[in-house]
Amino acid sequence: MPRARIIGTGSYLPEQVLTNHDLEERVETSDAWIVERTGIRERHIAAATEQCSDLAIAASRRAIAAAGIAATEIDLVLVASATPDMAFPSTACLVQQALGCGPVPAFDLSAACSGFVYALTVGDQFIRGGAAKTVLVIGSEVLSRIVDWSDRTTCVLFGDGAGAVILQATDSGHGLLSSHLHAEGRLADLLMVAAPGKRHPGTGEVFAIEGALIQMRGNETFRVAVRTLGEAVGEALEANNMAPEEVDWLIPHQANIRIIEATAKRLGLPMEQVVVNVDRVGNTSAASIPIALDEAVRDGRLQEGQTVLLEAFGGGLTWGAVVMRW
Ligand code: ACO
Repeated sequence: MPRARIIGTGSYLPEQVLTNHDLEERVETSDAWIVERTGIRERHIAAATEQCSDLAIAASRRAIAAAGIAATEIDLVLVASATPDMAFPSTACLVQQALGCGPVPAFDLSAACSGFVYALTVGDQFIRGGAAKTVLVIGSEVLSRIVDWSDRTTCVLFGDGAGAVILQATDSGHGLLSSHLHAEGRLADLLMVAAPGKRHPGTGEVFAIEGALIQMRGNETFRVAVRTLGEAVGEALEANNMAPEEVDWLIPHQANIRIIEATAKRLGLPMEQVVVNVDRVGNTSAASIPIALDEAVRDGRLQEGQTVLLEAFGGGLTWGAVVMRW
């Protein structure tokens, strides 16, 4: 049976950088507090003219170029996002049109910060089932549009960006070995944006809509994240009969350096084998893993044949892990 292999990656970060010192001007916080509690130093913020689809298209173009394919070869377009341009059409349809793909299926998927591992798994399943040979999987977010900029407990955490990968069917031993997805709706109220997504400029009336901004019970979310991620990576290794020392790279969702360190510690993995960019990018939700992955591919850290473990956690609650042979 074929499985999906990533043959190209791309990412896009908006030009504007918002530092912790900039945030000191907005809310009662300090660079020292943010760095100590989260590991974040700065994040990127989309321009008022940039939508989720624009970021997704830019990342996808880079992934397509890296894969060396034509957009017309793509059989399926998947976008994971908590901040789509509109309720419908899906952001995936806007991306499909802009890239010049054929009339292939395109849809969005919502699993908050776990969106990319969910979408990667769906793409892999289309390939394993024979319904697609080449799939574009994107995580793209303009979280700055749904951040409550007056809430110091959340506004310091999030950033904007997009990452994309091209999956292709392979019969080699490379590619996605297994996926392990979970959700626990009982914990939905730990982390939510109650109002539906709409294309808003990020200022003005959006702030008047009750429930349109991120609300999070950070402390409880933190504890559940550490526990569930530890369980998910354990499950992923067991399914592949793999010892922790066989993992070459951990590419975690970039929410908080302390959560990342706790997962690495559970695996017994030194931080040198963990891809981290939370200091420069913050939490970009569904975009976080593909942005980090793209960085590690482009700077040569990921080498053919290595074992890569992805893990993510987010609103829903949702979480999951993916094991790949690069
Ligand atoms: N600057 C200064 N002080 C602050 C700030 C800030 N930005 N934010 C909170 N504080 C204060 C609090 O008010 C509190 O003060 P008090 O003791 O006087 O009441 C104190 O700092 C400690 O607050 P805690 O909430 O206990 O701080 P904690 O160490 O838990 O860190 C954080 C907070 C960073 C939010 C952490 O809980 C966290 O990372 N949680 C998980 C976030 C996450 O991973 N979310 C999931 C993914 S996101 C998604 O799915 C979209």
